[in-house]
Amino acid sequence: MKAIVFGASGATGKLVVQQLVKRSVLVRIVMRASAIIPSQFLDDKRIEIVTGNINDFDVQKIKDLVKDCNFVICCLGHNISLKGIYGSPHKLVYNTVAKVIESLQVHKMKPKFILMSTTAYTNKKSGESNTFGEKLLFFLLKYLLPPHKDNVLAADYLVYKLGSQSNINWVAVRPDSLFDEESESCYEIHNYKLRSPIFNAGKTSRLNVSHFMAELLTNDNLWREWEYKTPVIYNKE
Ligand SMILES: NC(=O)c1ccc[n+]([C@@H]2O[C@H](COP(=O)([O-])OP(=O)(O)OC[C@H]3O[C@@H](n4cnc5c(N)ncnc54)[C@H](OP(=O)(O)O)[C@@H]3O)[C@@H](O)[C@H]2O)c1
Repeated sequence: MKAIVFGASGATGKLVVQQLVKRSVLVRIVMRASAIIPSQFLDDKRIEIVTGNINDFDVQKIKDLVKDCNFVICCLGHNISLKGIYGSPHKLVYNTVAKVIESLQVHKMKPKFILMSTTAYTNKKSGESNTFGEKLLFFLLKYLLPPHKDNVLAADYLVYKLGSQSNINWVAVRPDSLFDEESESCYEIHNYKLRSPIFNAGKTSRLNVSHFMAELLTNDNLWREWEYKTPVIYNKE
């Protein structure tokens, strides 16, 4: 089994790589030249490092990168800095998702695709709705915080453009407020948000997100349960 991880230098992406390797999956990672590569990745023969910026890759290049992969994971996100939030590319995640999906359309292996999304995404197609206060704040965020808009567009692409009739197998995993913990802990997965991400946010450890993603990819029953859905993940309190 082989996976490709975009955003593998990120806090969650690198944990996803570790979880996959632990499950005997070979992993190809794509990193910017400026990214700090975890030292254990450099010495691990199961990890292939491709240096480059996903923004500069065209669909043909991505086709070449994904062609022998069973799993494709996107853990990209805007860096928390002025440049990361307000600089280009504003549509980092959306553009990557659109290019990856295009590159998978004729893929013979029909890989499983996971997008790291967020509880700030409301899946209205599945019946989720926002309160008046949330609507107001999400409206403001859409215009004031480009990464929020990017995350919404990327998830909308899967939910509306692909939907469940697509020949692309996808899941968009939605963590609440991310934090780091030393070891895996109990977590719960829901079809819908149980809490307001704005007024009553829950917590989700990155390690648990990576664990859930790796389980989804390597456990077909779990995948079937969540395919074409936007599961929300919270740490158990
Ligand atoms: N913060 C939260 O509470 C929260 C909650 C739910 C969901 N999320 C979502 O989850 C995402 C991932 O979270 P995280 O903490 O694991 O993210 P992170 O550590 O910031 O990782 C972001 C990844 O994206 C890459 N990246 C950033 N800007 C790029 C660009 N212009 N071109 C190419 N690659 C770029 C980074 O590469 P470099 O290493 O090269 O910079 C890194 O690999 C978030 O960004 C957000 O969308 C966040």
